[in-house]
Amino acid sequence: MEHSILSVRHLKKDFGTTSVLKDISLEVKKGDVIAIIGPSGSGKSTFLRCVNLLENPTDGEIFYQSNIPTRASFKEANEIKKEYDIKIAKLKKEGAFAGDIEKIITERNIKIDAINSSFDRIDNSAIFQINKLSLDQKQYEKDLHNEFNRTINPDKAQLSDFKHKIDVFEEEFKAVKHPTSEMKNEHNEGLKKLEDLYKNLKVSLKEKAVQERTKVNYEEIVEKRKQLKANLKHEIEARIVESREDTSKKINELKGTINNIDINLVRAKITMVFQSFNLFNNYDVLGNCVLGQTKVLHNSKKEAIEIAKNALKTVGMQDRMHYRVNEISGGQKQRVAIARAMCMNPDIVLFDEPTSALDPEMVNEVLQVMKKLADEGMTMIVVTHEMNFAKNVANKVLFMEDGYVVEEGNPDQVFNHPKNKRTAEFIGGSK
Ligand SMILES: Nc1ncnc2c1ncn2[C@@H]1O[C@H](COP(=O)(O)OP(=O)(O)O)[C@@H](O)[C@H]1O
Ligand SMILES: [Mg+2]
Repeated sequence: MEHSILSVRHLKKDFGTTSVLKDISLEVKKGDVIAIIGPSGSGKSTFLRCVNLLENPTDGEIFYQSNIPTRASFKEANEIKKEYDIKIAKLKKEGAFAGDIEKIITERNIKIDAINSSFDRIDNSAIFQINKLSLDQKQYEKDLHNEFNRTINPDKAQLSDFKHKIDVFEEEFKAVKHPTSEMKNEHNEGLKKLEDLYKNLKVSLKEKAVQERTKVNYEEIVEKRKQLKANLKHEIEARIVESREDTSKKINELKGTINNIDINLVRAKITMVFQSFNLFNNYDVLGNCVLGQTKVLHNSKKEAIEIAKNALKTVGMQDRMHYRVNEISGGQKQRVAIARAMCMNPDIVLFDEPTSALDPEMVNEVLQVMKKLADEGMTMIVVTHEMNFAKNVANKVLFMEDGYVVEEGNPDQVFNHPKNKRTAEFIGGSK
């Protein structure tokens, strides 16, 4: 079986207390065109942003394996390039035979290939593991502090547990879709009972505290409690220090494995096309396609221009390469953005609703370019509302809702035989 080039396993993403991605898994193979559909707010953009490393996932794993050269190998390869450039220039000047120059060029290419392939494949899951370790550490410290407070002040803990019970009771009722008036009455009665019990508990705990204060040995009790508090605090602090050391040791070990990786390079290899193009307005069309190549891939300017011109030809924008971004239409901007993405020689291109910001008459020109890329074998993940594109171009369709992949299959399965009621409703509604 063919290997996945990207594996997403049980990906979760929270923003504060909101859980946006709840459990997403996806295998992407070379040449896959995966369409992601689903209502607004279901987490589609967040998913792409996690894959592209623009967001740090809360949990789960993303494995992306590619022959990404490290900074060190770039440098080494560049030095060899320079060395050979001088050699070749000298040979040319001396009027060497074309065949001899060819031989030298082949020798150079073999050397550079050897450098690039001598580096291990990069396993960027280390980046995510680091993130998870630091989140786990934070949670551990929070739990310890909680434990401390509960031991020091058991009455308060008892009260807050009771309060929590009331909150849960209310939340559970809120989740009932269409409660009858009988159910409402029953709920209100139950709630009142709980609230009365809560009030009673509060009063009795207060009384208990007052009584305690009148005890003959009260001072002794206070002293003991102080001692307990100090001991516990000390113990918890020691445990935190210990676990912090352990966590940072693990993080440093992981960092050692990724220190050499340029994260921008990973982003270039899983490149993103945005809804709002994100072109640089102060550069012309060609400049937009050259910049990333020289900055991130370290291509020479000459090489970058050549690659950019070819990419612009593919999207039919070669005639406009010296136009400024504000001198071209939305559809043209998006085609330039796609060309720019292709210039990075990516393994995967992520599209986040690439046609949603366009006037209707410009949608097709962009979809056609995307179809062309797909036909040429480009691996793509496309978040889209264009159902026809999903149906006719994708080989796999995912329906996302509320942070889950609700349905997944080939276009025929998802569009013509949806297993899930929600998928059917969504597709029906957007026809
Ligand atoms: N940076 C953020 N901070 C807080 N909430 C966010 C952030 N980004 C997205 N969200 C929330 O996550 C949910 C999913 O958003 P998004 O991934 O953009 O969905 P979609 O692309 O499917 O419309 C939304 O409720 C949105 O408000
Ligand atoms: Mg979105």
